[in-house]
Amino acid sequence: MTESSEKPLLSAVGQDEDGLGPSLDSPADFEVVEGAWISGQNAGSTSPEEIRSLLDRDIRLERDAALTAPDRMFAGALIEVLGVPDLRLPDFPETATKLDQQLATLEPNYSQVMHTIEADPNLVGRIWSLARTTRFPSPPNNLQIAVSRVGLVEIWRMSVEMALEAIRIRRGPFKDRADGVRIHGVLVGDVTASLARETRGPEFLAGLLHDVGELLILEAASRTEPSQEMVCRIVAQHHASFGVLVAKAWRLDPEVGQGIAYHHDPGAVNAGPQDLCRLIRIADIAVSGALDHRRQRQSFPELAIRQAATGPMDPTRPLVLAQRCIDRLERDGMNLMGTAV
Ligand SMILES: [Fe+2]
Ligand SMILES: [Fe+2]
Repeated sequence: MTESSEKPLLSAVGQDEDGLGPSLDSPADFEVVEGAWISGQNAGSTSPEEIRSLLDRDIRLERDAALTAPDRMFAGALIEVLGVPDLRLPDFPETATKLDQQLATLEPNYSQVMHTIEADPNLVGRIWSLARTTRFPSPPNNLQIAVSRVGLVEIWRMSVEMALEAIRIRRGPFKDRADGVRIHGVLVGDVTASLARETRGPEFLAGLLHDVGELLILEAASRTEPSQEMVCRIVAQHHASFGVLVAKAWRLDPEVGQGIAYHHDPGAVNAGPQDLCRLIRIADIAVSGALDHRRQRQSFPELAIRQAATGPMDPTRPLVLAQRCIDRLERDGMNLMGTAV
């Protein structure tokens, strides 16, 4: 099948039935762009020790070849981060770990769960603000009502998303890009979990964190102001490898590290149709493709999803899931069109 024979996103989807708003039947006004999913490489391994030494070698080569002082400093900052066992990362949020354990039981103890939530003022603040959005008819009177409105799964997700926000990046263009990476992670986490028909667990986590390695690279860039060209090259080649190291430093389920490692080319490791790295790949394409469509850009995600899936696959479902998640975040007040997602 050629690209030109693919249907544009929304005309392939029943708009009324899916509540996707007005259908744009003609892509005539669309700017044709390359999908963001095209750039990026698998990690060289899932062994953190091996990855660390491969990365150290490659970044040293980058440093030696750098032509400017900021580029050299950027490579030096990455080498320094690689030399620290926990990569100088903030701790993985304790609330997320506790809630995960508490919600994993057949009948979660509600008062224990409330106790965990109440002990985290940041999380409480977020629950209040979400419970007051237009998603609900009127503001709640107390935290218990707010919690039951927002739902425990979404609260767990919010607590995990704080892990991404805890990676602080200095103001400037690299921070803007990092904000986009975070939102992209939230969208891909949601779509990956839906594709796996799970609400919590490694599926959401691996989707959320699939590009977390890029945040680590951008953090070093925000301190050293290197050229965009060098940052883009290192992100494309090494973000999956850095991501595996982050999953290891945060002691996440090994499945999460595997999903992150191979999310750019699941075929290279013969991943099965339901393997996490393949689901992330599909979700990644769907999210970027749906956003491209919103921005009146045509990037042919349908074709890319068919290529990423093993066997026949209708790309409509991942695209609809991505569109719904984008709609939901926008209804909650997030400005997706104004970010670098
Ligand atoms: Fe990626
Ligand atoms: Fe991605």
